Amino acid sequence: MVKLKITKIERKDRNLIKKFIKNRWGSDEVVYNGKIFLPHKLSGFVVKYNQKLVGLITYKKYKNYLWIVTIDSLIEKKGIGTRLINTVKKEAKNLGIKKIKLRTTNDNLNALRFYQKRGFRITKIYKGAVDYSRKIKPTIPLVGENRIPIHDEIELEINDIFK
Ligand SMILES: CC(C)(COP(=O)(O)OP(=O)(O)OC[C@H]1O[C@@H](n2cnc3c(N)ncnc32)[C@H](O)[C@@H]1OP(=O)(O)O)[C@@H](O)C(=O)NCCC(=O)NCCS
Repeated sequence: MVKLKITKIERKDRNLIKKFIKNRWGSDEVVYNGKIFLPHKLSGFVVKYNQKLVGLITYKKYKNYLWIVTIDSLIEKKGIGTRLINTVKKEAKNLGIKKIKLRTTNDNLNALRFYQKRGFRITKIYKGAVDYSRKIKPTIPLVGENRIPIHDEIELEINDIFK
């Protein structure tokens, strides 16, 4: 497979990202514990193949940490997800930020495996957070991977990426 280039999100990518998120997540908004985020307005990185978006990571910068809001790979198990995570780690270092946080849902065993094998540790569980978000975004499915009912958000973080 061709080595795909990762580039920083530019203004010209924003419409593409909006459509991409809508296709992947049922709307251009993502909701965590009732709070709405618009990934097409965030910072992040894209991976393109023949002008098509095949990978995307978006994040929000807080005072002491970066929060990864979305990560998606359309060509799975080829290293795109790992490269996106590593690129955000590098970005955090450049910004002098030690901590990266993210959340996933209780059904997403693939993401839980993926994050933990890349250094993230589970720090919090927000019980019922998805049930709450579903009131704002009714398109959030009731049942997810492996037919697991989706209810909760699981927060993971890397505490010291300088180590
Ligand atoms: C989670 C996600 C981003 C991972 O992306 P990905 O591109 O598949 O990630 P990678 O290819 O880097 O790694 C995935 C697995 O493939 C393996 N892999 C990578 N390159 C490989 C290759 N050439 N041959 C075989 N296996 C390979 C990796 O080792 C990894 O397995 P591991 O976690 O057991 O170590 C992707 O599955 C996804 O988009 N999921 C849906 C969206 C989602 O759930 N996002 C998170 C919401 S919180």
